[in-house]
Amino acid sequence: MTTSAEPVRPGPLAARTVLTAPRLLRLPGVYRPQEDTALLAAAIADLAITPGARALDLCTGTGAQAIALARRGARTVLAVDLSRRALASARLNALVRQAAVRPCRGDLATALSRGPFDVVVANPPYVPAPAATVRATRGWDAGPDGRAVLDPLCAAAGTLLRPGGTLLLVQSALSDVDKSWEMLAAQGLRTSVDRRARIPFGPVLSGRTEFLEAAGLIAPGQRTEELVVLRAVR
Ligand SMILES: C[S@@+](CC[C@H](N)C(=O)[O-])C[C@H]1O[C@@H](n2cnc3c(N)ncnc32)[C@H](O)[C@@H]1O
Repeated sequence: MTTSAEPVRPGPLAARTVLTAPRLLRLPGVYRPQEDTALLAAAIADLAITPGARALDLCTGTGAQAIALARRGARTVLAVDLSRRALASARLNALVRQAAVRPCRGDLATALSRGPFDVVVANPPYVPAPAATVRATRGWDAGPDGRAVLDPLCAAAGTLLRPGGTLLLVQSALSDVDKSWEMLAAQGLRTSVDRRARIPFGPVLSGRTEFLEAAGLIAPGQRTEELVVLRAVR
């Protein structure tokens, strides 16, 4: 378990990354695009996507990443989310931008049944939470260690990807980047840190510093977290 915000693995610092989240239509309750959205979108912007690629955006929310993939030239983009409101938002945003995105209600199992893919991107819920996840918090909460969605996703990454395919996954250092790295590398995926950025705690983390300190997930007084984009190539 990573107990500080510094991932052990080396990688380029993204201190100069401008984390401006895209402005998108969003029904009530749908995850507002924020710094993690922007960091993953920046990684997608730098990704070489072969024309005709099949892409997956797992946990699509407003569809921000799915639209970025379509703009980069993916032929088909499957945008998967559990939330009907998220999918309606993603559909509207893709329509407005004339992006070839196919919203699909479901989860990892749904994605696995539609795979494999040339490109997989995910900004899953990864925030360590003291209480059970409920509908209102499922955009970000992910169990006591933040890995409720990360663990099954990392375990399935090799199956989701075609040979030569790439996964881009964003998470917080608070939810154990090393574990994700090890799970990806254990499947023979070439794993690296694509980019990272340190940001101040937002309202959710600010409201649970006592829990995070007690769990040893942050140092006393720590009020910033590091976001990390992992890249894994099959
Ligand atoms: C952190 S938001 C990311 C939204 C968007 N991709 C972005 O980058 O801004 C996570 C999204 O995952 C969805 N979600 C939560 N658990 C899920 C699961 N098990 N399978 C699929 N989607 C899930 C939530 O409804 C939410 O829209």
